[in-house]
Amino acid sequence: MNKNRIKTELLVHDLKNPIAVIEASADMLIRNAERENPLTERQIKALTRVIRNSRIAMSLVNDILEVGRSNEGILNKGTYRCFEYIVFPFVEIFDLIDPEIAERISRAGGYKAFIEILASQGVRLEMDASLWEKEIFLDVRKVRQIIRNLLSNAFKYRKKEVVVEISLDDNNLFISIADDGKGIEKEFHKKVFERYLQLGDEREHCVRGHGLGLAGALVLVEDMGGRMTLESEMNRGAKFSVSLPLGR
Ligand SMILES: Nc1ncnc2c1ncn2[C@@H]1O[C@H](COP(=O)(O)OP(=O)(O)OP(=O)(O)O)[C@@H](O)[C@H]1O
Ligand SMILES: [Mg+2]
Repeated sequence: MNKNRIKTELLVHDLKNPIAVIEASADMLIRNAERENPLTERQIKALTRVIRNSRIAMSLVNDILEVGRSNEGILNKGTYRCFEYIVFPFVEIFDLIDPEIAERISRAGGYKAFIEILASQGVRLEMDASLWEKEIFLDVRKVRQIIRNLLSNAFKYRKKEVVVEISLDDNNLFISIADDGKGIEKEFHKKVFERYLQLGDEREHCVRGHGLGLAGALVLVEDMGGRMTLESEMNRGAKFSVSLPLGR
């Protein structure tokens, strides 16, 4: 392993400590509040967000270190119901935009309520009701990461609407995420999947920034033996479609 890589991994590794302290402190505040001084509902909600997000951060740190251990990337397949793949990324996205909605989504508890909350936020979910509880054998953390990254872009660029389609056939899970934003010119359709590439505002040039989301999502899709495609024209939005072969 080269030295830079070890240094990067050590930095990531050392993130564990502060994240653990953040979680433990928020947790302590909530637990002491039950016994001693009561907190307002808003304070409890904020602390709950802190705890939820520090757990997410911790599991991401663990994932980074796991990936480092294997050049292939480690697959951790299991059987989860369809909604377990889908709901979580929305909670994470809304935790940034509107925590109230994130809370409602994480408590929605069923297909109908989930779809209705999303619809109120300009997100159309097209998915058969019968899929909600369907058991699917895939790497749930990786699938969530892919969905979260595509959603985060769609929310960043949409004008009004995001459309998410989920379907299943005998061999694949299909996920597509589309927005109605400014779109991506044909000549950049391959390039947007490169690391550190962001298109400049005028779209005349590429900016080297933290364009990691799509490159990372593509690697995860390919690790699982899947495919990702992009359909987009300028000013007509962008649609990213993923197919993932089902295990077993
Ligand atoms: N839905 C979209 N509509 C228009 N342009 C997009 C869309 N998704 C991605 N892009 C373009 O592709 C670039 C790369 O996307 P990517 O998700 O890899 O990086 P990013 O979103 O800029 O940063 P991050 O690393 O935080 O994800 C973006 O900077 C943007 O220019
Ligand atoms: Mg992104």
